[in-house]
Amino acid sequence: MTKASAPGKVILLGEHAAVYGRPALAAPVQAVRAHAEVLPLDEDRVKVEAHEVGVDTYLDEMPDTHPLGKAIRLSIKEAQASGGFQVSVASDIPPASGLGSSAAVSVAIIRAVCEHFEHELGADRVAQMAFEVEMLHHGDPSGIDNTVVAFEIPVLFVKGEEPRPLGVTGRFQFVIGDTGEPSPTKELVTMLRGRWAGDTEFVDALFDSIGELTNQAAACIGRGEIGNLGPLMNHDQTLLETLGVSSPSLDRLIRAARDAGALGAKLSGAGGGGIMIALVDDSSLEAVDTALREAGAVRTIQTEIGQ
Ligand code: MEV
Repeated sequence: MTKASAPGKVILLGEHAAVYGRPALAAPVQAVRAHAEVLPLDEDRVKVEAHEVGVDTYLDEMPDTHPLGKAIRLSIKEAQASGGFQVSVASDIPPASGLGSSAAVSVAIIRAVCEHFEHELGADRVAQMAFEVEMLHHGDPSGIDNTVVAFEIPVLFVKGEEPRPLGVTGRFQFVIGDTGEPSPTKELVTMLRGRWAGDTEFVDALFDSIGELTNQAAACIGRGEIGNLGPLMNHDQTLLETLGVSSPSLDRLIRAARDAGALGAKLSGAGGGGIMIALVDDSSLEAVDTALREAGAVRTIQTEIGQ
């Protein structure tokens, strides 16, 4: 049996603008992971099990557009795998929440199948393959999710360019709050595409400002300036609200985090629901975590970058 896994991800700054070539910052979230197992099978078919999403079938019965089927077919082609085997998938990353569940599932499958057939893969190839699956899920993704999940390091991401490792001085701690409401990435990216087409100058100016904040945030993180990062996150949230991708439940959690002492807070991922992220220090971490739960977060996750 061969097992592989991949972490969740969180976008620190730059979501949506990333689709339009502006920089974005993202980090792996090791506390939640997707898992895939490959087992030998006594028949010449590929069996696929993902009980959490009601999948218990054979690959040859899955349509080309099924993301799990696509990830397995790409892996078989890549590893030149043959014969029958079973792929089982499980994940503790809440789906459609902004935590990169789809990318993590794809990366776990690709790693497990390729490793099972002794085909070595670099993180860049894993990311490319997972991107092909992301296109089925999200329509017009920037590639940030599959990149950070495959490389498992904080990155400064620009669409179409090699991801740059994000330099981190010191330790930056975050609490993620989940509204429990779905964050429909494809719908929100499509909605913004419509707004951008209708008023390109205005929306491009917002994306430019988000890109500028993201570059400033990368510099702060590189220099260990935790106090300066919070206001940049708050400003990014204001721009995301102007773009129309926040929601009442996100706004409520963001307010609760700030009131409880977070240094900054914003939505993370596509928005509309899903998760928000709060920057905290040792003195505010537990208060912010508690405040988020009291304000309705269905779960909180503590994560950090640096050391
Ligand atoms: C989704 O995690 C981030 C978005 O910017 C979409 C993308 O970059 O593909 C909303």
